Amino acid sequence: MKNAITCTTALLSTCALLLTACGGGTNTGTNPTTNTPATTGTSSAIPIGIAVAQTSNVALLGQEEVAGAKIAEKYFNDKGGINGTPVKLVFQDTGGDEAGTINAFQTLINKDKVVGIVGPTLSQQAFSANPVAERAKVPVIGPSNTAKGIPEIGDYIARVSAPVSIVAPNSVKAALKQNPNIKKVAVFYAQNDAFSKSETEIFQKTVKDQNLELVTVQKFQTSDTDFQSQATNALNLKPDLVIISGLAADGGNLVRQLRELGYKGLIVGGNGLNTSNVLTVCKASCDGVLIAQAYSPEHPGEINAAFRKAYTDQYKKEPPQFSAQTFAAVQVYVEALQALDKKSKVNKLQLPQLRTQLNTQLLTGKYNTPLGEIAFTPIGEVVQKDFYVAQIKMDKDGSKGKFAFLK
Ligand code: ALA
Repeated sequence: MKNAITCTTALLSTCALLLTACGGGTNTGTNPTTNTPATTGTSSAIPIGIAVAQTSNVALLGQEEVAGAKIAEKYFNDKGGINGTPVKLVFQDTGGDEAGTINAFQTLINKDKVVGIVGPTLSQQAFSANPVAERAKVPVIGPSNTAKGIPEIGDYIARVSAPVSIVAPNSVKAALKQNPNIKKVAVFYAQNDAFSKSETEIFQKTVKDQNLELVTVQKFQTSDTDFQSQATNALNLKPDLVIISGLAADGGNLVRQLRELGYKGLIVGGNGLNTSNVLTVCKASCDGVLIAQAYSPEHPGEINAAFRKAYTDQYKKEPPQFSAQTFAAVQVYVEALQALDKKSKVNKLQLPQLRTQLNTQLLTGKYNTPLGEIAFTPIGEVVQKDFYVAQIKMDKDGSKGKFAFLK
C-alpha cells in the first residue's frame, strides 16, 4: 500500500485551498468518464463523503443511511452550515462487499477530496476499508458498524453506532420479561459476517449470564436463502427462544422458515435485522420479533422532532435507527467543523491539516443528536445513554407492519 499513500499525498498537495480547489456543487457523485470531482461547481461547500451500500442486499440497510444523511445535509445547511459555508455530501456506493467499499473510500479520499467519511454500512466492510482511510489520515465515522473492535482500527476511526455489547443484551432481557418460562435457547449466526460473529458472542454470553440453556448454535451464510436444515436441527431441540445474528435478507428468510416449520416461541433478531425492509422478507412471519434499538422516534428534544418530521413527511413512516445514526454522524462532522472554524478558519487550512484537526476536534465534542446526547471516548467509541427494544407488529395479511417500542 506504499504506492497508495504516495499517490494520496501527491494528489492532496494539488489541493492547496480546500474550499477553492475542492469546492462544492450539486450532489451528483463523480463522473467516471470525465473524471471530474463531484464537488466542482460554484459554491464553496465543504465536502463530506458518504460511503454506504446503495446497491446489493446490504442496501436494505444502506438506503436508510442515505435517507438520514440527506435529511442532515438539508437540516444543517438550512441552519447556516459551517458558520455560513454549506456542507455538501458526496455519495459513493460501496455495494455489499469489501472491494466496493475500498474503491468508494479511495474515490472519496483522492478524487472527491472529502474532509471525512461517514460509512461503511457493515462492520465486515469497515475492517477492510477503514485502514485505507487511517493510512491517508482521513476521519471515518461509522454510522452502523457495531462489531467489537471498530474504533480500535485506528486513530481516525470513530463510530456513532453503539457496540453489540451494549445493545444486544437488551433484547434477550425483553424476551425474558415477556416469557419468564424461557429455558432453552437456540442461536443462529452468519459465519461469513464480522458483525454477526461479534454479536452472537454477546448473545451467547447473555444466554449464559441469564442462566438459560444454549441448546444449539447454528451457522449460515449471509448469501443463504434456504435454512431448512439448520432450522430443523434447532427445532428438534425444542427451544423456547431463537436468537438470530445476520443481515436483513438472510435473517428475514430464516425467521419466515422457522415459522413455516412450526416454531411458535419468541424470536430475537440482532442489529442486522433492524430495518423495516426486513418486513418485506418475512412478512406475516415477522410478527413478534424483538429487536434492540439505539434510537427511539419518541426521543424528546428539538433536533429529534425536526429529524422525525423531515423523515415522516418524506417516507410516511417513523424514522428507523440507521437513518437516525447516519444523521448523527453527519451532525458530528458539521458541529466539529463549526467548532474548528471558530478557532482557525477551515477554508484557510490545507486539506491534510483540516482532516487531522477535524479528527481531533470531533473526538472532544458533545453532540445533542436524535439519538440523545452522544460523545466519544478518546479512541472513538460512542458514549450514549438511551437504548430501547422494539417488537415487530404485522397486520394480519402480512402486507404492512411496524416496530412497536416496548415500555
Ligand atoms: N450492525 C451491522 C454491522 O455492524 C450492520 O455490520
